[in-house]
Amino acid sequence: MKSVKEREWFFSQEKEPVKVANPIPEYNIYRLKTTGQTICDIEIASGLGKAPVTIGATADLHFNFCNMKDREDEELQYTEQCRLWLQYQKSLVSAVKALEAADFCDASIICGDILDYLSEGAIDLTKRHIIKKYPEIMMALGGHDYTKQMQTKRPDKLPLEQRLDMLRSFWPHDIHYYSRRIGDSVLAVIMDNSQGKYLPGQAEKLKADMDIAREEGRVILIFQHEPISLFDPKINTVPAVVENGGAAKIANFGTMQELIGNSESDESTSLVLDLIKCGADVIKGIVAGHWHSQFFGYIKAGYSGGNGDVIPCDIPQYIISGNPYFESGFVARITVK
Ligand SMILES: [Fe+2]
Repeated sequence: MKSVKEREWFFSQEKEPVKVANPIPEYNIYRLKTTGQTICDIEIASGLGKAPVTIGATADLHFNFCNMKDREDEELQYTEQCRLWLQYQKSLVSAVKALEAADFCDASIICGDILDYLSEGAIDLTKRHIIKKYPEIMMALGGHDYTKQMQTKRPDKLPLEQRLDMLRSFWPHDIHYYSRRIGDSVLAVIMDNSQGKYLPGQAEKLKADMDIAREEGRVILIFQHEPISLFDPKINTVPAVVENGGAAKIANFGTMQELIGNSESDESTSLVLDLIKCGADVIKGIVAGHWHSQFFGYIKAGYSGGNGDVIPCDIPQYIISGNPYFESGFVARITVK
């Protein structure tokens, strides 16, 4: 745990301006001159009048590494030949730097795709450089984390549950749903939506957490891998705030059929989306990764005002940059005031 003085020093370093493609007031992006990390400051007003809480969020670390054992595995042999991006643990340094900066916040959360593909080498990097150093860290599951076949155009041989069991054996908490109080004002919810949908049981847990948040006077921030629909028929395409090489430059919020909530949802997904859309009294932000460039949008939402009326209140959705595009890492520092 860092002292107040250490935290103050870290974020009061001299800052260098960062040129971004489409600046917006919701993101204040700069580079720390001494330690090198790119920081995106985000402020969320809780309206609670409690002491500020900070969360360091990162996304898409993509550890790509096969060790000797992996090279005896015929699936991973082929993945290693096909998957060249960030090969030989190239993204490790940016991940280490980002997590060092995030550790100067009250909590650190990674929004999925920690592994580029499921290998013992990548698991070992995750254990050594993340979980051992930061046992309190929270991590949402991303689609890459449990996929062994990457760019091979072949289906995975191991059943999904067996691959998930490999992650369960070292993940710091439940892989599908986890929540934790941070300070006096935040309840962080980590949800697995990495299969392009929500899962059975998640809605019940979210509903219970929303009740806790209301009782205790907290706001909920949801951290997950995949962004969701804005449910706003007026919004179609949105340009990236930060464009990262090779990643999306435009988000097709309106027409992207694979976006959660844009096409027909199964029951578990609809239940979670309905809770979010009607829970804006306590849900004050959604943080996701997956798209690798930085985006922003307001989700059309509201909450019950009693007497059956709904009070409109949009929920900001923060889609944060992929970490490996920044040599010294990228951290969204979310301050709940
Ligand atoms: Fe990713």
